[in-house]
Formats: sequence, C-alpha cells, structure tokens
Amino acid sequence: MPDEIGLFEAIDTQRGLRQFKPDPVPDEMITRLLRAAIKAPSGGVRQGWSFIVIRDEETRRKIGDLYRTGSRFDIRDDMSTQQRRVYRRAQHLEDHMEDVPVFILACIEGGPGGPVSGASIYPAVQNILLAARGLGLASVLTTRQSRFEPEIKDILGIPENVTTAAILPIGFPAEGVRYGPTRRRPLEEVAFDGHWGNTWKTEAE
Ligand SMILES: Cc1cc2nc3c(=O)[nH]c(=O)nc-3n(C[C@H](O)[C@H](O)[C@H](O)COP(=O)(O)O)c2cc1C
Repeated sequence: MPDEIGLFEAIDTQRGLRQFKPDPVPDEMITRLLRAAIKAPSGGVRQGWSFIVIRDEETRRKIGDLYRTGSRFDIRDDMSTQQRRVYRRAQHLEDHMEDVPVFILACIEGGPGGPVSGASIYPAVQNILLAARGLGLASVLTTRQSRFEPEIKDILGIPENVTTAAILPIGFPAEGVRYGPTRRRPLEEVAFDGHWGNTWKTEAE
C-alpha cells in the first residue's frame, strides 16, 4: 500500500481520471476501497447497498458492448471548453470500457429515483473515490449504466428490488494521467452567510 496522504489533500485533488493501465489491481486495494464504502452514512443506517467487483474479461466485454451500442455524448459548440473536454474524455472511456481492469458497480435496494435511495448510496461512492485517490488509483463517478439497467442486471444476476447507482472504473492511472487540483465555481458564488445572497467571506488563501 502507498504512503497515506492527508484527508484534505485527497479531497482537493480527487478528480475524474478515465484512462487506465491494463495492470490488475491487487485484491487488498479493492478491499480497502470497499471497506471505505461501507463506512458511509445511509438513511436510517439501513445500509441497503451492494458492491459488485467486476474483473472477469468476458463480463467486462459484455458491458463494453452495451456502452458501444448506446447513445453517445452530445458534444456541442455552445458548451464550455471544460464541459467539452470532460464529455470527450467520458466518451473515450465509454468506447474503451473493457480495457478497464476493474469496475465496482454500486447498487442500492429500492426503486430508481426514490428520494432516499440516491442519498443512501452516493456517500459510499464518494468514499470509494476518495479512497482510490488515497491509494493512487484512478477512478471516476459514472451513472450512464442506467441506460442499460435491465441488461446489466441480467448479466450480473442482480435481484429485481435492487437498482444500479454507479459504475466506478478502477485501475492504475495511464502514463501521464494524474490527480491534481480540481476547478470549481468559487466559494463566494455558492456559499452564503445566514441568508441567501449574503456572500460567505473567505480569508485570503
Ligand atoms: C451524477 C454524476 C454522473 C456522472 N456521470 C459520468 C459519466 O457517465 N461519465 C464520466 O466520465 N463522468 C461522469 N461524471 C463525472 C463528472 O463528469 C465529473 O465530476 C466532472 O468531470 C468533474 O470533473 P473532475 O472530477 O475532473 O473535477 C459524473 C458525475 C456525477 C456527479
């Protein structure tokens, strides 16, 4: 296992990495990600989550086939440069799904879109992303498996009352792909002090 990094370094530099080395990921690392996942909160501590680790080549190929035949990202000129870059990378990932050494498919009991179910699985998903950052593994949150929900459930034998929430591709980052600071809307724009519109004042950083 690599040396541990600080919590805030992990939070500040966890960005979507979508290109992977083909090398396998040691089981102990995957177990560490899963242990991080199950520490997350869930409504009423129900923990209706399940995580399927997918490494088998045939299964990855079947999932890759689904993505290749599915709808493509709509990348338009009126989008920001950042958005277009993200969508291009996301499309590249979907065109090469079976080359990813590991997927973790996060599932939650209950129907899709319920008010509680998403809030009870995405904290666990975020824990996996942060733990991957901590271990130097590449990953990104993806949700477009929902286009193939019945097919994926069939391939993996997922029970009827369980919904797929996210697929996290996992692997060592490809050459030249690395974690780093993320770009976000500034705090002054999105954080208020006591009342909508009262900008939260930050100390000079
Ligand atoms: C609900 C949700 C769905 C997402 N779906 C995808 C996806 O299908 N494919 C993908 O590559 N990234 C997906 N992302 C990742 C976002 O595109 C990512 O957060 C965005 O690229 C920000 O970039 P950064 O993580 O590099 O800062 C998703 C993120 C969220 C929160």
